Amino acid sequence: MSQTTTEAAAIAAVPVAEEVPAAPDRVTSRAALATIIAPVAVRLRVGTALAVVAGVLGVVPYVALVLLGDVLISAANAGVAPDAAEVGRILMLLLGSFLGRLLVYVVALMVTHVADVALNRSVRGRMIAAIGRAPLSWFSDRTSGMVRKTLQEDVTNLHVLVAHKPVDQTIAIVMPLALAAYAFVLDWRLGVLAVLAPLVYSAAYAVMMRGMGDKMLQLDARFERLSGTIVEFIDGISVVKAFGIVGKAHDRYARQADEANDFYYAWVKPMLRTSSLTMAIVAAPTVMLVTFGGGALMVGRGWVSPAEVVVVSLISLMIPHAIETLGNQAWGRQLAEAAAVRIARLLDCDQLVAPAHSLELPADASVRFDGVSFSYGETAALRDVTLELPAGSVTALIGPSGSGKTTLATLVARFGDPDTGTVSIGGVDVRSLSEADLYRHVGFVLQDPQLLIASVADNIRLARPEATDAEVHAAASAAQVHDEILALPHGYDTVIGSETGLSGGQRQRIAIARAILADRPVLLLDEATAMTDPDCEAAIQQALSELVTRKTVLVIAHRPASVLGADQIVVLDAGRVVARGTHEDLVDHPVYQSIWRQAGGHDTAEEQ
Ligand SMILES: Nc1ncnc2c1ncn2[C@@H]1O[C@H](COP(=O)(O)OP(=O)(O)OP(=O)(O)O)[C@@H](O)[C@H]1O
Ligand SMILES: [Mg+2]
Repeated sequence: MSQTTTEAAAIAAVPVAEEVPAAPDRVTSRAALATIIAPVAVRLRVGTALAVVAGVLGVVPYVALVLLGDVLISAANAGVAPDAAEVGRILMLLLGSFLGRLLVYVVALMVTHVADVALNRSVRGRMIAAIGRAPLSWFSDRTSGMVRKTLQEDVTNLHVLVAHKPVDQTIAIVMPLALAAYAFVLDWRLGVLAVLAPLVYSAAYAVMMRGMGDKMLQLDARFERLSGTIVEFIDGISVVKAFGIVGKAHDRYARQADEANDFYYAWVKPMLRTSSLTMAIVAAPTVMLVTFGGGALMVGRGWVSPAEVVVVSLISLMIPHAIETLGNQAWGRQLAEAAAVRIARLLDCDQLVAPAHSLELPADASVRFDGVSFSYGETAALRDVTLELPAGSVTALIGPSGSGKTTLATLVARFGDPDTGTVSIGGVDVRSLSEADLYRHVGFVLQDPQLLIASVADNIRLARPEATDAEVHAAASAAQVHDEILALPHGYDTVIGSETGLSGGQRQRIAIARAILADRPVLLLDEATAMTDPDCEAAIQQALSELVTRKTVLVIAHRPASVLGADQIVVLDAGRVVARGTHEDLVDHPVYQSIWRQAGGHDTAEEQ
């Protein structure tokens, strides 16, 4: 556990620079990777062990070839037909070892692929759970591009590492070693001959790949930013179009794409030069020249047989191929390691941990804020707020934009935890309530009603999936939206988002229907700021009045007129409660007055 924490701390410490993306260092990525694949580590070891067997078995056909060559050549030299039984046995060995190796290889890949599928599912599940438990402030400093890339691409990138690396890399290492060892067993001079060309190749390859790991991580970090820019661009496209700045917004994307391109080109160009040189050195003719030339001399001196020379030539052609496979895989491994770091960072995001079972249940539906301060990173949103909402009362929260109203309300629903102080319901700190118990007590209708891509009925049923159709319809009727739902293409079964779009007012009332059906004793209400037509406005007001009966309500009033019926009015300014009381108590308060003035309701305030 403590080890995981240390690793997590190391990962969290990786700086993320603003302009040039900083790449995580290799050690960190290795550690991150180890933590992520830990659940399937045993299966991967089984895959690796099978791959070792397959790699060693890969030598047997070469042994068979030497035997066969010797039989054929000595028969030819003796001027007799080769021994058919002997040749048959050798062919069986050749075929048997080939098929056996194939079988072991396939089983090894199956083991790792099954592990990969399991890991994929568990990692995605863990990430979604982590994102789900992250406080709202976590989302503000991350673009959706990063989350998207991590959830989709990065988990996919792990595939190379989990499903292929244990098998293919092991074979690519074990087989050349076993082959070279076999060449040395035949004759040490042949052994030297077999590894000569590959050694030169490896040296050149190592030079070529120098610094590749870090470069790869940097390139990938650039792609991550690029991905974020694309998502931002698309998310904001309506604004971008409306203000005619498509070109400008596009510039940002184009610039980042160019940078990534230049970086890639500058890195790859010199590598290509070395690469062609290396390829020339290990090209088949060169290898053949060395091994056949040297081999012919050795045969002449009677050190080795011609068959051995032919087989060792084949081996020296095989070895560079295996090294190249390793190199090609290195690319995928780098990507996977970078992916692992991002996955680890995402899994490590701040979590709001709720106990599985509530330590204590709320005594009633009162809500209390006690010395609550909250900040989004550097931005202080609430400062030392102490406030009591008696059970069954309506509290209106009012204050200039950015004064912390939404933040205060969402703390009751535990979208975030206060930095200091406590929020409690019925005398119980919300942090000691299980998620289920918390949401059994708190319902909310947010400023921007979040509807899911699901049928209207399912959206209303969200908090009470077992509700009957009649209950759903009753809630929609109370929320003044029943008739409009019936007018949709498939009525209550119409899928929001794909089959129909809805107006802001309709969305708001569906969210209200949801809250009516949920029927929670504490209700958080963030009034819609969007201008709706007067009819719709009246309908929403009626729906709300239906909703707030007998509940503890915290309503964020964006229009001062709607605070008038509240039991108490709380004025927030710059994160502080600056005044509290009824409308009569507050008419002389400067902040309260200025809110009325700005709403153009000065006269109304005076008249009340
Ligand atoms: N997700 C966020 N990340 C960073 N800062 C935030 C975030 N949400 C709000 N803030 C900041 O916290 C402060 C309080 O915001 P909040 O949304 O609570 O204000 P509000 O009173 O609801 O405003 P409005 O009337 O415009 O809805 C503001 O300064 C705002 O910029
Ligand atoms: Mg708000």
